[in-house]
Amino acid sequence: MLRPSLIAVPLVLSALVLPPTAAAQLSVGSDGLGDEYFPLAGNGGYDVGHYTLRLDYEPATDVLDGHVTIRATATESLSRFNLDFRGFDIQALSVDDLPASFLRDGQELMVTPQEPLTAGGEFTVDVRYSGVPDVVVDPDDSIEGWIPTDDGAFVVNEPQGSPGWYPANDNPRDKATFDFRVTVPRGKVALANGVLRRSASVGTRTTWYWRQDEPMATYLATATNGDFETNFFALDSGLPVYIAVDRPERTGANFSRIPQAIALFSETYGPYPFSAAGGIADNAGFVGYALETQTKANYANEPGASTVVHEVAHEWFGNAVTPVQWRDIWLNEGFARWSEWYFTERTGGATAAVTFRANYNSRTTAYWTRPPADLGGAEFLFADPAYRRGAMTLQALRETIGEADFFALLRTWYAENKYGNVTTAGFIETAERVSGEELSAFFQAWLYGTTRPPLPGA
Ligand code: TRP
Ligand code: ZN
Repeated sequence: MLRPSLIAVPLVLSALVLPPTAAAQLSVGSDGLGDEYFPLAGNGGYDVGHYTLRLDYEPATDVLDGHVTIRATATESLSRFNLDFRGFDIQALSVDDLPASFLRDGQELMVTPQEPLTAGGEFTVDVRYSGVPDVVVDPDDSIEGWIPTDDGAFVVNEPQGSPGWYPANDNPRDKATFDFRVTVPRGKVALANGVLRRSASVGTRTTWYWRQDEPMATYLATATNGDFETNFFALDSGLPVYIAVDRPERTGANFSRIPQAIALFSETYGPYPFSAAGGIADNAGFVGYALETQTKANYANEPGASTVVHEVAHEWFGNAVTPVQWRDIWLNEGFARWSEWYFTERTGGATAAVTFRANYNSRTTAYWTRPPADLGGAEFLFADPAYRRGAMTLQALRETIGEADFFALLRTWYAENKYGNVTTAGFIETAERVSGEELSAFFQAWLYGTTRPPLPGA
């Protein structure tokens, strides 16, 4: 038995004598995490460790029944905290097995537990809900979230679709591990992140159990489902690869590049970060884009060869190494686009230097006036400046600091930030440290300038 220490006595007494002081130490978790473009994305006061998503979807009615358990650690003592969640009827919500009261306002779900949460303590939130999901419309008018298709749903969330189908701390800074149990009509396939543990049928329904054991940002979750032809196999390294193709509309022929891209990028950047890989080719052309959902990217259309390489590259840059702020998305898209160029260079096609110059000399001027690290608004996240000028910045850097330092930089950037979050300032600092060069004028021109910078060496 512990002997009460001398100091414990006055603390206990003051708590008894002065309850208002104790109450004043409780805080209300903030409704955002300071994202410049999406101020309500994520919430303050806690850190999620693990999500268990149990989803039951009926494509015939479009009804999604969800039962989500979130294990988190309080980082402040909390009287109340928020989750991000849109739509649905919430049938039950408990914190540490006690029913909790809640209020809703847009994407904010405000939860008041019966007992306050103690800073440093673990707690569990359990939410049961049901309804027809609403797709989320982005500032650039693209759609995301749980998107119904003719045979299931296409599920993608960059940057803010996740709260359209599960309650989350929806900010790229709060990575967590995930378990998925997705139930669909027997005969259909449900694909989520990580490794397939098993699938089991009961009556007319089949449940697919997937597990993502490495940290994942909430926007990278998926639960795409429908009629798919599957090809699940392992690489020589033992890495499981999950391919799913919506036939006959899609062939998935370019998924043959996945092993090649994993090999090249593992050798160039460092070991593949996750315990699974793959791709999902759906028939959802109206969505119009692909997304690097962790371990197995989603493609709304027939995957193009370069797009497959692009999405595989995101496993390193985007998924393992993730920006703090959406504003810094060039750290994802510039790296993935440059990786396409480099893959072409290394497989007998044009060198990245040639592709860089073709882009540099293009008559398109939008990406010279809109700098990659200062896009000017969330509607430009997926436009040319982050992708093309971002990739040009990397190739210009390669030609400025030289091959050895450039590739050492990419390896260092990955090794130091794997499973974490990054900023543009951090990249500039790392580039200067690894190369031993002062690069502020270079980065000022390529990442922040509003006119076309000179070519390296010019
Ligand atoms: N990040 C995706 C990629 O580059 C593209 C993407 C995500 C996108 N959401 C989007 C493109 C919305 C246009 C609109 O692979
Ligand atoms: Zn991309």
